[in-house]
Amino acid sequence: MSTDKTERVYIFDTTLRDGEQSPGCSMNLEEKLKIAALLDDMGVDIIEAGFPMASKGDFDSVQQVAKTVKNATVCGLSRAIRKDIEVCAEAIAPAEGRRIHTFISTSPLHMKHKLQMDEDTVIEAIKESVSFATKFTDDVEWSAEDGSRTEDDFLCRAVETAINAGARTINIPDTVGYATPNDYSALIAMLVNRVPNIDKAILSVHCHNDLGLAVANSLAGVQAGARQIECTINGIGERAGNAAMEEIVMAMRTRQNQYPFTNNIKTEMITKASRTLSKITGFNVQPNKAIVGANAFAHESGIHQDGMLKHRGTYEIMTPESVGLTESNLVLGKHSGRHAFRAKLEDLGYKLGDNALNDAFNRFKDLADQKKEIFDDDIIALMDDQNRMDKTQDIQFETLIVHAGTDGPQTSEITLNVEGKSKTAKASGNGPVDAMFKAIRDIYPHDETELLLYNVHAVTGGIDAQAEVTVRLQEHGHIVNGKGADVDTMIASAKAYVHALNKLAHIRAVSLQNGGAAPIYEVGP
Ligand code: KIV
Ligand code: ZN
Repeated sequence: MSTDKTERVYIFDTTLRDGEQSPGCSMNLEEKLKIAALLDDMGVDIIEAGFPMASKGDFDSVQQVAKTVKNATVCGLSRAIRKDIEVCAEAIAPAEGRRIHTFISTSPLHMKHKLQMDEDTVIEAIKESVSFATKFTDDVEWSAEDGSRTEDDFLCRAVETAINAGARTINIPDTVGYATPNDYSALIAMLVNRVPNIDKAILSVHCHNDLGLAVANSLAGVQAGARQIECTINGIGERAGNAAMEEIVMAMRTRQNQYPFTNNIKTEMITKASRTLSKITGFNVQPNKAIVGANAFAHESGIHQDGMLKHRGTYEIMTPESVGLTESNLVLGKHSGRHAFRAKLEDLGYKLGDNALNDAFNRFKDLADQKKEIFDDDIIALMDDQNRMDKTQDIQFETLIVHAGTDGPQTSEITLNVEGKSKTAKASGNGPVDAMFKAIRDIYPHDETELLLYNVHAVTGGIDAQAEVTVRLQEHGHIVNGKGADVDTMIASAKAYVHALNKLAHIRAVSLQNGGAAPIYEVGP
């Protein structure tokens, strides 16, 4: 990418705020810090880490992100309310680069029904909130919520007011994903042409994907003059999600003739970011999803394969390597020794003491007995699973026997260790998974818990691939994701369920310590 003739577009990632707001995508503190570190390494300019006033959990995670992020500006969201802004300022205070993002609705529909405020009152609120925010940082962003359904004259007045009050970034959200690329580009161009002080701020786009147009709208906005794009990894977010960062940056990289802009993203980290987020949230991307779907670089038909062999450019507009997709290397097998295993772990970023290495090596040998070829992803799944099976957890999985198939009834007999005591239960059900979950319920009653999701995903290709199972449970408004991996899908399912139950047990324990007050966020491994 040339940097001399081209203009810079800032990438504002809101995976941890708008993304995390989507049902079932909630992350615990440790998970948020992992994503923040990844975004920082990727070269994201601004990380919107949360909405500090929303809960103590949000406050803590924004503050921890602010303490740990090295390069990116850390941003917190706040309504046009003084208390929100003060709390937001406190949460982002430890960061070197700090941004307060304050917003208020500007569309007639929102002003009348949601805010019950008239135009003049909204203008006063903009003046007051933006100028108050500038007392804490000179990096203040203001958003016109439902901006794409706002009347032009009023939007111009609101934007001019926010800039005069000190906002340096003006964001125009297509909050409900209603705009089309033509509408949205005309809207941004209208602001560029009509707002007298627009040169004192960077215009930003924030598009939702209700009509599947979020990325197209964002790019149209940039062509019309915006220079910041708000987006999320894998496009997660409210309802149909936000604009997907990987699609935006790869469109800019691949179509420089249309989008002659630079950005700071290391696109080679896209696959890692997408997979890490999927693992954490349990939301796998659809196989045909652009850039990060399992089939995005697969060429199935004979004609395409023939073309690819003759010249890759026949059917490939970007290389898999450019998004960090490399063939998963065959690394180790049954005969590999401890030394090679340790070297591989270090290569993958795991540094273990001698005892932990012994445990991991034994588990690796067990896996190698069941699976001929061990890939990097297998080792990562094995290590993640080992961390989840931490011996300090209340409930430990021990053994499982299932009866499945056409000759019913399907039954499961499971043994768990609950707080140091081995307990066994047997149950029948609609298939072995249902039977197993019932047996777990018999051993460890949890009547107020609801199963929201059960998802199986193969870690690698091949019929001997390890299964990675996600189980999402909800109890009194707390949603947790449990994960388990094994070559046996039933064992992976049991481990995932137990992992989720341990997380809920931890939340209950924290609640008791707080004198019965509901804990604010998921805690624990
Ligand atoms: O979609 C939206 O309008 C938002 C704002 C709060 C920026 O997320
Ligand atoms: Zn949004």
